[in-house]
Amino acid sequence: MALVKSVYAREILDSRGNPTIETTIWTDSDHGSVASIPSGASTGKFEAVELRDNDIHRFGGMGVLKAVENVNQIISKYVIGQDPTKQNAIDQMLLDIDGTPNKSKLGANAILSVSQAICEVGAASSGLATFEYLSQKYGLNKPSPLNLPTPIFNLINGGKHGAGNLEFQEFHVIPSSRKTFSEGLSLGTDLYHLLKQVLIDKKAIHSVGDEGGYAPNLFSNTDAIELLVEAIEGSQYKINADVFLGLDVAASSIVKGGKYKISDVKEAMDGKGLADFLIDLNKKYNLLSIEDPLDQDDWESWTYINGDLGKQVMLVGDDLLVTNKTRLQEAISKNACNAVLVKPNQIGTISEAVSVVKTAKLHGMSTIASHRSGDTDEDFMADFAVGVGTDFVKFGAPGRGERVSKYNRLLFIEEYLKSKNA
Ligand code: PGA
Ligand code: ZN
Repeated sequence: MALVKSVYAREILDSRGNPTIETTIWTDSDHGSVASIPSGASTGKFEAVELRDNDIHRFGGMGVLKAVENVNQIISKYVIGQDPTKQNAIDQMLLDIDGTPNKSKLGANAILSVSQAICEVGAASSGLATFEYLSQKYGLNKPSPLNLPTPIFNLINGGKHGAGNLEFQEFHVIPSSRKTFSEGLSLGTDLYHLLKQVLIDKKAIHSVGDEGGYAPNLFSNTDAIELLVEAIEGSQYKINADVFLGLDVAASSIVKGGKYKISDVKEAMDGKGLADFLIDLNKKYNLLSIEDPLDQDDWESWTYINGDLGKQVMLVGDDLLVTNKTRLQEAISKNACNAVLVKPNQIGTISEAVSVVKTAKLHGMSTIASHRSGDTDEDFMADFAVGVGTDFVKFGAPGRGERVSKYNRLLFIEEYLKSKNA
């Protein structure tokens, strides 16, 4: 049995040029892993604490040297000597050392960097790829090349991720889940390139936002959806057969004093008003999914929209649920949504993220493994998605290194499984 020999954290940069933490773990049998942690911009207020230095003289206060020190000076002492295949026990130990409900003492970024590196080195020391290891350990999925998650491509970036004027944060194209992953990926890239041409022809800006999607200035959010439709109509793909549309409204980023103001509607709306707007939008575009249609505190309107659309549309809780099992259980009891976005850094350990997937599956909810808007070339989330069998992955546009590293890892896994099952 291999035991952890060293744990070492350092500060690196993420895709927005902000510091983040990277932790390297070695075992006494010379198995190693390196895990880096992403960071959100439109973060939910119930997320675990991302520890920042707040020293204005370094990286505008965004440094993570305190989190690094917490790993190197505190956490490492407990983790060295442990069997890395004991994920749940090590995660529990990390929760106990921190001792706070929201991981504010050591920082969820510090804790997750260790939890994730433990998962990867546990896999390596078991002689398994990380996705195989997660599959064997938790029994939530049997990976097969025909059963990889369906990618959700974010082709237009608005809200806090775009430089343009759109209020909605993300405009998605989603290949039919009947397609293989590689077919879905080539559909995504075809539409990404066609959309660029549509934007150039319309003289709308086509610079990219934080997740690699275009960030145009348009008259309304509905216009952005229309441009996606136009790109699809100019392609070989049939809308609502080969490819579907989706949105991340990220409504918690729009709400002010309980009201939502969007460029599509003259007056500011309350929760029911925005829900009715989205219900109408769905009549026109037959959306496959709507993420965070309403504010993270507006349970009543969530239940209202889920009552209306829940049988046809995935209503995805991101800021609403923050990968937190207690909030997920609240959503289940209130019938507030039917799908869960899973971002391990919202909660801070791998085993807690896995238990959210497990609970969601038990209740028949759809699951989506997700990157963050600030990310690194880390590809762990691809293995996580396959290993625990999420239905979808959301890794941004099929462009920019930190996004394609994850899609490329899924391509590798698909090929690997094909050759293994051949
Ligand atoms: P974030 O956005 O990483 O900035 O929180 C992603 C999302 O809202 O899905
Ligand atoms: Zn979101």
